[in-house]
Amino acid sequence: MEFADRLINWYEKNKRDLPWRHTTDPYKIWLSEIILQQTRVQQGLPYYEKFVANFPTVKDFAAADIDKVLHLWQGLGYYSRARNMHIAANEVMEKWNGQFPDNYKDLLTLKGVGKYTAAAIASFGFKEKVATVDGNVYRVLSRIFDIDHDIASGKGQKVFTEVANELISESSPDIFNQALMEMGAIQCTPKSPRCEDCPFVQECEARIKDIISIRPVKLKK
Ligand code: ADE
Repeated sequence: MEFADRLINWYEKNKRDLPWRHTTDPYKIWLSEIILQQTRVQQGLPYYEKFVANFPTVKDFAAADIDKVLHLWQGLGYYSRARNMHIAANEVMEKWNGQFPDNYKDLLTLKGVGKYTAAAIASFGFKEKVATVDGNVYRVLSRIFDIDHDIASGKGQKVFTEVANELISESSPDIFNQALMEMGAIQCTPKSPRCEDCPFVQECEARIKDIISIRPVKLKK
């Protein structure tokens, strides 16, 4: 079985049931991804629920009083993210006629939306074949394929992005992306990864070379 199929197979059996995995609404995906950039899933969940309840659509979010948004954001930190979100929501209303941009390139133009977030919205919301590359993905790929590029460098990030985009599933890029991140979150963890029941244990190059603890490579800046 090829990489993507084996990964997705593992995911279907092991995934956590998370609310943003039941929607293709780009607004809700955006909300969840910004929240999860600065907090763990368990801490982020109540914030996600709270924001969706208070602002069910991007229109509601854009029209909201910024003070109310900042108040609901309390505890998450990085208030600039909430401010940028409010600006981006208004961009969606004004420049995009209230419809979230539906592709990676256009999503990147929104305030506060970087490569990772644009890829997440494009793939989860619109099934665009573009890889989401976060810390989990660096870890999993650096270990399975023994990639020793520095993940703190622009060159390293480019290499990992290229590898992920070569591996991504043609038919289910959205599920592939969720699956690769999930593997890093619950199987191929930073410390004490669960290699015993990993679907890639046989060919994981870092495991074979016994160098898991030094992958990924992250040099101090
Ligand atoms: N962390 C960042 N994005 C995530 C997602 N879509 N699911 C689970 N954890 C995440």
